[in-house]
Amino acid sequence: MPSRIVVEGISKRYKGAVAVDGLSLEIARGKVLGLLGPNGAGKTTTIKIILGLVKPDKGRVLLDDKDLHREGVRMKSLVGYTPEVPEGPAWATPCRLLEDLAVIDGVPRAEARLRARQALAELGVEDLCLRRMGKLSKGQKKRVLIAQALVAEREFMLMDEPFTGLDPEWVARVRELVLDLRRRGVGVLVSSHILRELQDLVDEVAVIAKGKTLFQGTIDELARKVAGGAVLLVRTPRPAEAARIVEEMGYRDVQVLAQAVRVRLESEDEAQAVISRLMERGVGVRGFETRGYDLEEAYLRLVGARR
Ligand SMILES: Nc1ncnc2c1ncn2[C@@H]1O[C@H](COP(=O)(O)OP(=O)(O)OP(=O)(O)O)[C@@H](O)[C@H]1O
Ligand SMILES: [Mg+2]
Repeated sequence: MPSRIVVEGISKRYKGAVAVDGLSLEIARGKVLGLLGPNGAGKTTTIKIILGLVKPDKGRVLLDDKDLHREGVRMKSLVGYTPEVPEGPAWATPCRLLEDLAVIDGVPRAEARLRARQALAELGVEDLCLRRMGKLSKGQKKRVLIAQALVAEREFMLMDEPFTGLDPEWVARVRELVLDLRRRGVGVLVSSHILRELQDLVDEVAVIAKGKTLFQGTIDELARKVAGGAVLLVRTPRPAEAARIVEEMGYRDVQVLAQAVRVRLESEDEAQAVISRLMERGVGVRGFETRGYDLEEAYLRLVGARR
């Protein structure tokens, strides 16, 4: 049994845009890897390259030490996929879509039909079996796409933004499904642009931006690498004025919110001086709170979305 997928320095350039730029990562069996990055970071392209749906300009995808794309269909069938958005025709029905996927994987037609229905039932959408994909709601479509993870046994499962568009109940259920795959020894990759979504789900996270891996490791390691300091939130009816005053004090990471201003501090000890100054200047401080550095913030800074 192969134990890991190793992505080695893959690059893909489209006309005018570099989608993936020398990216490397590893997916281990029995573990969940979060693929975290902002819109356009190259997550979907990376997943499609691993699957062999997009050919990279450079780099390799190895299953242990074998080149996945040179080994042909048998090796590829070890890797399953749940797409970000429906990729088939809008007139396809969920049952047919799933049935055909199982057949492609070598499941006999009659059994494939049964598996398709079971997979839809597990995602609570069996009643949509004969509807058309194009006519389903966003969350219904997503659940049909996730059901793709259940129609055939796999060693690895690549899930492209499985939580997007789902309501909280189904987010929780899909998380359970991911953990269940993990317990069964499947290596799961889950992409997302929200760190919190992955925080208690993944063994490791690979943070990517502009097609490059900035980090792969545990969330704790990520926190140690990028976190530190504190965040001060001051509620005020005049946030723009408050922000100006705080900037005059030399703080550069200041955000104006609807009824509040948010300041990044070196440590929580600095909060008192900031609040005193705002009160002296009469901007109307209605309340405040400090907390340890927000990991989501740290991640946004790492990918360059914040100063
Ligand atoms: N088929 C294509 N033709 C041209 N450019 C493409 C194509 N596919 C992707 N790109 C470009 O490559 C970059 C990476 O896209 P990709 O879809 O991999 O990002 P992503 O991380 O999945 O983003 P999102 O969070 O929005 O899903 C983007 O700039 C995108 O415009
Ligand atoms: Mg994407």
